[in-house]
Amino acid sequence: MKRSTIVAARALVVMSIVGCNIVEVNARPVSYKLPDETAAFKPGSNLEIVQSNCTACHSADYIKTQPQGPKFKKDFWQAEVTKMIKVYGAPIEDEDVGRIVDYLSQTY
Ligand code: HEC
Repeated sequence: MKRSTIVAARALVVMSIVGCNIVEVNARPVSYKLPDETAAFKPGSNLEIVQSNCTACHSADYIKTQPQGPKFKKDFWQAEVTKMIKVYGAPIEDEDVGRIVDYLSQTY
């Protein structure tokens, strides 16, 4: 056999082994129950807007566990919301940003 034929045959064998493994992977659906949500946003005005914009990717814990105090008010929350949009791609309407920042800086 020619050298190139051997190489091609080896490649075929490798490809079929890899192919088989993919087919043999057991893809049965797994069902499991998630624990109930325990974190909640504190009451305040514009709460609904925050709930509908800020719970798609993570729980309200992410907001509750941020540093609090006079240094962490409007500027801090404005930067957080901007980061969610710019860095993590949160689909938030421009007109809602101000309301969300108001709620967060008044409530947390
Ligand atoms: C598109 C998904 C997405 C949405 C929507 C989203 N976030 Fe996030 N958020 C993230 C990711 C990703 C992280 C970083 C997670 C990590 O580091 O574990 C994060 C982290 C955070 C943190 C922790 C501090 C930090 O900067 O990492 C806070 C606070 C936060 N988000 C607030 C918000 C608020 C407020 C909203 C609503 C305006 C929001 N998020 C909406 C994706 C999102």
